[in-house]
Amino acid sequence: MLITKKHVSLLLLLVIMFFFHLSSGTKITYNVQSYGAKPDGKSDSTKAFLNAWAAACASTKSVMIYVPQGRYLLASAAFWGQNCKNKDTTIKIDGTLVAPSDYKVIGNTGNWLKFERVNGLTISGGTFDGQGAALWTCKTSGKSCPNGATTLAFYNSNNIVISGLTSLNSQMFHMVIDGCQNAKLQNMKISASANSPNTDGIHIAASTGVTILKTVIGTGDDCISIGLGTSNLWIENVSCGPGHGISIGSLGWSMQEAGVQNVTVKTTTFRGTQNGLRIKTWARPSNGFVKGVLFQHSVMVNARYPILIDQEYCPDQKNCPGQASGVKISDVTYQDIHGTSTSQVALKLACSKANPCQGIRLEDVNLTFKNQQAQALCSNAAGTSYGVNKPESCL
Ligand SMILES: *[C@@H]1O[C@H](CO)[C@@H](O)[C@H](O)[C@H]1NC(C)=O
Ligand SMILES: *[C@@H]1O[C@H](CO)[C@@H](O)[C@H](O)[C@H]1NC(C)=O
Ligand SMILES: *[C@@H]1O[C@H](CO)[C@@H](O)[C@H](O)[C@H]1NC(C)=O
Repeated sequence: MLITKKHVSLLLLLVIMFFFHLSSGTKITYNVQSYGAKPDGKSDSTKAFLNAWAAACASTKSVMIYVPQGRYLLASAAFWGQNCKNKDTTIKIDGTLVAPSDYKVIGNTGNWLKFERVNGLTISGGTFDGQGAALWTCKTSGKSCPNGATTLAFYNSNNIVISGLTSLNSQMFHMVIDGCQNAKLQNMKISASANSPNTDGIHIAASTGVTILKTVIGTGDDCISIGLGTSNLWIENVSCGPGHGISIGSLGWSMQEAGVQNVTVKTTTFRGTQNGLRIKTWARPSNGFVKGVLFQHSVMVNARYPILIDQEYCPDQKNCPGQASGVKISDVTYQDIHGTSTSQVALKLACSKANPCQGIRLEDVNLTFKNQQAQALCSNAAGTSYGVNKPESCL
């Protein structure tokens, strides 16, 4: 028999699969059902999950917590990692985790499921159902209701991988990454209704080295919001809509504030979103900054404001002494951004009169409005344009 390249790679694949099998086989597995979790969607399984976590956490070897198929009712739970004895925990989820149908049960706890001070965690698969609809109705009716809980939050944690997860109908944000280093989020689906308040897809703050890949997000607020102190963030192959787009901000509320730097947003699609690529700062004094941002290869399908810098944010003209943002925006590139806008002003750079934007680059931006010429508006924005820009650059 002739040994072809194909045979060799097939053999290689088999060898790799064998070792992969061996290595995953050596992981000690903690099945949540062995700790009393019930896949009936009715029995409270919170304690069982926490006990499985405590057992896994006490192991000095790599561990796996396994959640078999079925629906597991969970109230608010905090998974603490500071005393864990290993740095390699996997939570493999084949089932659905369901929040209590009465939103008051978790609505004042801030987070539904929270991981804090965890190092080396992989969450693979799983559907998280926040059951937020009743709370959204309460909020939009103007009654007094709880703030709501974030579905899945990671605080002060390092080396996190989240993959293949589905998050549905969160009460508040779907996911929060705050104070973390090295987090990779990929192949996720995040969804809530277009008119659900504050249901941001992923909120990142005070974190460095976060990567978000191949994720589909549709919510009632920002698909991804990027808060203070975020650096080295990479977003690629994300589709957004409905929602408010991908937003850096709001920044600049406080005088002393950590800046945002080195953000790449690459190969994204926006469908029917309120904004596309946005940077938003309060019109208040601040020492904050945004620098080193690359927005590259975006397709806009009927986005209201595809490209927006809004440094004049001051709802109801309240709380904005001085009325000019202190946040310094520099070195922001928009490259190969094309498609359709639903407002005539498809590109708006409204920078701070106290701190004009510097180093803005527009390259091959092609946006149309109802098959007509769109408009570009710039104020206090300095930079350069390259290639063909439609509407014509206002820099
Ligand atoms: C910017 O962030 C990327 C990851 O998103 C990282 O690979 C790169 O090294 C960072 N650049 C600098 C100058 O820190
Ligand atoms: C993103 O999508 C493009 C086009 O489908 C693909 O070529 C690229 O490898 C993807 N990148 C990642 C990081 O998945
Ligand atoms: C801009 O986009 C329109 C509509 O998609 C297209 O017809 C046109 O050729 C594009 N122009 C350039 C310069 O790429």
